[in-house]
Amino acid sequence: MTNILVTGGAGYIGSHACKALKRAGYTPVCYDSLVTGWEEAVKFGPFEKGELSDRARLDDVFRKYKPAAVMHFAALSQVGESMREPGLYWRANVLSSLTLIEATVAAGVKNFVFSSTCATYGDQDNVVLNESSAQYPINAYGGSKRAIEDILRDFGASNGLESVIFRYFNVAGADPEAEVGEFHQPETHLIPLMLDAIAGKRDALTIFGTDYETPDGTCIRDYVHVCDLVDAHVLGLKWLEEGKGSRIFNLGTGSGFSVREVIDHSRSVTNKDVPYTEGDRRPGDCTKLVSGSTRAVEELGWTPDRSTLQTMISDAWRWHQTGHYDK
Ligand code: UFG
Repeated sequence: MTNILVTGGAGYIGSHACKALKRAGYTPVCYDSLVTGWEEAVKFGPFEKGELSDRARLDDVFRKYKPAAVMHFAALSQVGESMREPGLYWRANVLSSLTLIEATVAAGVKNFVFSSTCATYGDQDNVVLNESSAQYPINAYGGSKRAIEDILRDFGASNGLESVIFRYFNVAGADPEAEVGEFHQPETHLIPLMLDAIAGKRDALTIFGTDYETPDGTCIRDYVHVCDLVDAHVLGLKWLEEGKGSRIFNLGTGSGFSVREVIDHSRSVTNKDVPYTEGDRRPGDCTKLVSGSTRAVEELGWTPDRSTLQTMISDAWRWHQTGHYDK
């Protein structure tokens, strides 16, 4: 079986990726510090606890498993936090990724799949966001991810490292079998916070800003199901294995939903009231982020068929009710 090194494999997206890799016949080797991940989420292959910044530990893991490729999910990913503590983001995301990329090259591994973000595009009014759109991040999170994209491009030119870079839009939902799911501590994402509020596990949801230039005044996002997202990663890995070379893909559906629309869908999926209040804008939030690209569908053969708001919220709700990792 082919080993794939999965950094952040104990996290939300990484754990779903490990499940998808195992299903596709690979052995996912999870490398995670457990700072934001959960050991209970490591179910699909071996686990190596370690920091991304620890080059000696990474070298040992590369020697032990001889992975054919790296999938790099490990990162800090909260937009708001990145505005308050930019240094944390540049150090944890950029410097650690550089260490990982250098270790990857030193180990002779040529294929690298990277989690980037639509936050690298920034706030661009009336612009269709596709892979060749300009990148003007407005928060340190997006800036740090753009910097890692640049590092990958440079190592591609100098060392022959081939990378598939995925720019995620808003990832939501959970494994429909509820083996793994979304659980952040602290939680900052809209859908899990809303489900907590519905279940009475926390106070009312606050809508961050109702005066945006959108039809109902709230921010618009393009939500993509985590299972569809990780399926794209397996396709990206095969793309690299087939020698098709470095490529960037947006992962979004092209449909945008406002915060109020997400609340309405949650009400109808759960059949329960959504307690909410209206608050100020959150610094760093873009007005609208919707993918304008079909490249992943056309070139990778990606079929994001679970990415309806209805399915994402009902899968998240099923997971939420099992209470996994919720100790
Ligand atoms: N929101 C609220 N109230 C909350 C939480 C969120 O109104 O309590 C709103 C936000 O303002 C935003 C939308 O819901 O408009 C979605 O917010 P999330 O925090 O769920 O997601 P973000 O859009 O901030 O961030 C996510 C990922 C990032 C990625 C980004 C790109 O977490 O990694 O999408 O937009 F970069």
